[in-house]
Amino acid sequence: MTILVTGVAGFIGSKFVYYYLRKYKDRKIIGLDKLTYAGNLDNLSKLTQEEKKRFVFIKGDINDRKLLEEIYSKYEIDGIINFAAESHVDRSIHDPGIFVKTNVLGTQTLLHVFKEHYDERKKQKFLQISTDEVYGALGPTGYFTEETPLDPHSPYSASKASSDLIVKAYHDTYGLNTNITRCSNKYGPYQFPEKLIPLMIHNALNHKELPVYGDGKQIRDWLYVEDHCKAIDLVFEKGKSGEVYNIGGHNEKENIEIAERLNGAVGATRAVVDMGWIDYSHQIGLSGKTVSPNYT
Ligand SMILES: NC(=O)c1ccc[n+]([C@@H]2O[C@H](COP(=O)([O-])OP(=O)(O)OC[C@H]3O[C@@H](n4cnc5c(N)ncnc54)[C@H](O)[C@@H]3O)[C@@H](O)[C@H]2O)c1
Repeated sequence: MTILVTGVAGFIGSKFVYYYLRKYKDRKIIGLDKLTYAGNLDNLSKLTQEEKKRFVFIKGDINDRKLLEEIYSKYEIDGIINFAAESHVDRSIHDPGIFVKTNVLGTQTLLHVFKEHYDERKKQKFLQISTDEVYGALGPTGYFTEETPLDPHSPYSASKASSDLIVKAYHDTYGLNTNITRCSNKYGPYQFPEKLIPLMIHNALNHKELPVYGDGKQIRDWLYVEDHCKAIDLVFEKGKSGEVYNIGGHNEKENIEIAERLNGAVGATRAVVDMGWIDYSHQIGLSGKTVSPNYT
């Protein structure tokens, strides 16, 4: 079995490559990545010689239909997992266009090529990796479920919500076997240092201020990246066609608590400073379908 995985040089995609190749010794991955500022091939440098034989890296854009066709003509693709995205909220506020191009149009291009090669008997899977940010903000209590209405606020979350709807449209219109996972915030090794936890560690160690938004009381649910990979694998293997699955850690923390604990952990006492606006709260709750790995 060979799957096409996009965004393999990014934070989560690279962890998934290790996870998948180590779990399934007879499977192969074709990894596609544009290598934007967020992509780093060093993230894949610890693959063993044996794993490298089952992994092909292709530098390219999910918007490049010709390239996608070439991949399909060269390899027998048994499914797609789409991690490729512009993923940083703050960047989307400064440059929304690239978020629409990659997250919306890129997903549609990938889906369309998937559709053109879809085999009704094999029913290959297209799995879209999305985010709980598509649900917008919660009050101080409560949870998102898969039935929570979409209510994105930033260009990032709007682009992810849009790509989710494109995936739904391809499922509903063409009967393709698709799933969407919506996960809360991840942490783990080699995360790009613009994200909250590595940024706080970096700043605390380098005697810089720790930036939070407002009073820092925004609540985020945190999940270890490898637990996310396990949940993705489960949905890719067993997900019911057309379903959305939330993935949460039940590990909610205020941003200010994260900043203060990391400050303490590195023995620093840097000031925590206000950066301006952001959505208030993201918590993922249990519905019948919610995937909540209990091994975090
Ligand atoms: N990190 C989180 O906490 C989090 C939370 C929920 C959902 N997600 C979602 O998970 C997915 C992966 O997130 P991440 O944190 O690994 O992101 P990341 O920014 O670390 O990696 C994204 C990867 O996609 C590649 N890429 C960007 N545009 C591309 C294009 N047009 N064609 C091909 N490759 C392209 C980049 O080079 C990079 O390697 C994203 O879809 C993101 O929305 C992330």
